[in-house]
Amino acid sequence: MPENGSDTKKLTQSPADALANIAPRPGRSGDPCIMVIFGASGDLTRRKLIPALYNLAQAQLLSREFSVVGIGRSPMSTEDFRKKISEDMKQFATTKIDPDLWEWFVRRMHYFSGDFKDKGMYPQLKTTLEKIDQDHSTHGNYFYYLATAPEFFGPIVENLAANSLMEENGQRWRRVIVEKPFGHDLESARALNQQLLRVASEKQIYRIDHYLGKETVQNILAFRFANGIFEPIWNRRYIDHVQISVTETVGVEKRGGYYDTAGALRDMVPNHIMQLISLTAMEPPISFRADVVRDEQAKILHAIQPLTAEEVLVRTVRGQYGEGVLNGERQPAYRNEDGVPSDSKTETFVAMKLAIDNWRWAGVPFYLRTGKRLGGHNTHIVIQFRRAPFVLFRDTPVETLMPNQLVLQIQPQEGISLRFAAKVPGPVMHLGAVDMNFAYADYFGTQPNTGYERLLHDCMIGDQTLFQRADMVEAGWCVVSPVLDVWKALPPRNFPNYASGSWGPKEADDLLERDGRYWRNFEK
Ligand code: BG6
Repeated sequence: MPENGSDTKKLTQSPADALANIAPRPGRSGDPCIMVIFGASGDLTRRKLIPALYNLAQAQLLSREFSVVGIGRSPMSTEDFRKKISEDMKQFATTKIDPDLWEWFVRRMHYFSGDFKDKGMYPQLKTTLEKIDQDHSTHGNYFYYLATAPEFFGPIVENLAANSLMEENGQRWRRVIVEKPFGHDLESARALNQQLLRVASEKQIYRIDHYLGKETVQNILAFRFANGIFEPIWNRRYIDHVQISVTETVGVEKRGGYYDTAGALRDMVPNHIMQLISLTAMEPPISFRADVVRDEQAKILHAIQPLTAEEVLVRTVRGQYGEGVLNGERQPAYRNEDGVPSDSKTETFVAMKLAIDNWRWAGVPFYLRTGKRLGGHNTHIVIQFRRAPFVLFRDTPVETLMPNQLVLQIQPQEGISLRFAAKVPGPVMHLGAVDMNFAYADYFGTQPNTGYERLLHDCMIGDQTLFQRADMVEAGWCVVSPVLDVWKALPPRNFPNYASGSWGPKEADDLLERDGRYWRNFEK
């Protein structure tokens, strides 16, 4: 794990044998069902959804009575759709394709072309689904995946409901998975929730956040609540502060048009970063039932102190990347990316300091940051513990007296490390910081997956734990609302203010340095 500005040495890994006895447990296969994908000709379908479904089939977690109906605007026959996804899988499959299994799988794929906003399409869709339901014995269970632009979310669900396609009865279920962005601000998120809840019940709505599909994110709960040693010190008596960083080296890729209307704050904070905060900071749930876990997460989101306008000015930082060099290559400025206006004031970086108003966290700052075209691609959570109460080692140079840090590495490295001080061998007492590292790959091997398998499977078995409830989405927007308001009223005047390949604007470092703290940066 190469790292900026540290003299870290690696300790030897503990042997993998410790976990050798853990055998994979077979899971329950999904219920018989039809998955209806709105936006079937889009990128998400070919890159993630189809490879994820295939992986589920391979793991025997897909029911034998299963089918997919892809809906898109482009006219295409079912045969052409099958050919297209077979071709796409050559590029996007994460596992080796077994020809027999693929043949079984692809025969279950169907295509239906139509315009999502056209009311006339839905009765035809209903007839098509009834026929496929009979052919594949899927028991009338349907789930709809809205892989579309957000303006279609409301109209699609209303039209489904108007045609009894959301109607459940004792025998069959109907569910809908809604992609992000869920709203553009608090008001629009509330309006969308109301629109959906007028025609469907909360139990039928699965608001997806792909961060919750990541093993390492799910592991935050296991790490905290399945181990006796950390929870007693997981509070303000022992923890100095928490840092959550999602640093990306990519720019806006081909999504300039969307991104310029969203910006880093909307794109990452109310959703992915709020998930990381809530899992890190929540109280232990009394069970792993969906609503019990989500109640605890919601409580934390509600306990985040809203920033006043004055606080927004001093506790938040925004930035936009200029040109620069990253991985040895010259990168364009954000304003020169495709689809981005040359005078864009949209932020591609955000950092902020938040406070959680409850007994566990009072006085413990949570610093978070995310940005594009930064010096390293890394998502991690740093729990920094308080320093030892008095300094026995006064003669040790201060920079080597590092505080203990527990780092939950979410991606691309997946693991956990604990940093502590050790005596550097030699005749004088000199301390260095060392890391005790656990890497997933060393213990469990790497399991190629798309990150969507667990979430799709959960929807097929009716488990909403890893999906966002209406109140959670709104609480996430409540946190960023004051920031959006102040930023809108005071457009930035110094953009671009960080070079591609750097670690963001200098003000983001100042945000911590003012408090005597430093970001931990990982280059890879
Ligand atoms: C998406 C954002 O939700 O998450 C992207 O729209 C971002 O801008 C992406 O790059 C990050 O996801 P991951 O899984 O690559 O960390």
